[in-house]
Amino acid sequence: MIIALDGPAASGKGTLARRLAAHFDLPHLDSGLLYRAVGMAIAKDGGDPSDEAAATAAARRFTTDWLSDPDLRGDAAARAASQVAAMPGVREALVDFQRAFVGQPGGAVVDGRDIGTVIAPDADAKLFVTATVEVRADRRFKELLGRGQAAIYPDVLRDLRERDERDSRRTVAPLVPAEDAYVLDTSALDAEQAFEAALAFVVGKTGRR
Ligand code: DC
Repeated sequence: MIIALDGPAASGKGTLARRLAAHFDLPHLDSGLLYRAVGMAIAKDGGDPSDEAAATAAARRFTTDWLSDPDLRGDAAARAASQVAAMPGVREALVDFQRAFVGQPGGAVVDGRDIGTVIAPDADAKLFVTATVEVRADRRFKELLGRGQAAIYPDVLRDLRERDERDSRRTVAPLVPAEDAYVLDTSALDAEQAFEAALAFVVGKTGRR
């Protein structure tokens, strides 16, 4: 069983993906970490994440041990990721790893921006998880404060708007819902309600409980 979740930054798709994976006992991949790892690999070498040749070379060298870097969750990694994710060579270099993950016996849950459209177009259930940019900024802001990090709401909002813009406008694998995706707008839902709605969709679509 393959479940694909796509959506903008801070939409809650990662939390939903983890919960669905636990519910159905499937492995989970947060594909955003791959782009973050490539961006950080360049930055840590003193390189420039906007250098397409360097980014493509780094993506071709990618190995899973890059994913254990604790800095991948930070803002610097997010910014570098959104630059390298717009490069066709980088995306292409990361396709095989993601398709192999999706193709594991038993299936997988993968979240990202292009999972239902490019990586796993034949997924059994596709969700496009979204929420207004203000709601997403509010959630991200509280999450940062909860982690004890300094955060300023207008900055978080501006940052999300910029990332939305870059993710949606790029020419390769832009952020768009797959035609057969269930669009789940979580703006007015709490985490539990969002999970119930996602689970009901997957159960209805696959017949698996
Ligand atoms: O979901 P995230 O914030 O970890 O993603 C980091 C960046 O990588 C973001 O700019 C979108 C990009 N990304 C992508 O282009 N395709 C994916 N499948 C996952 C993430």
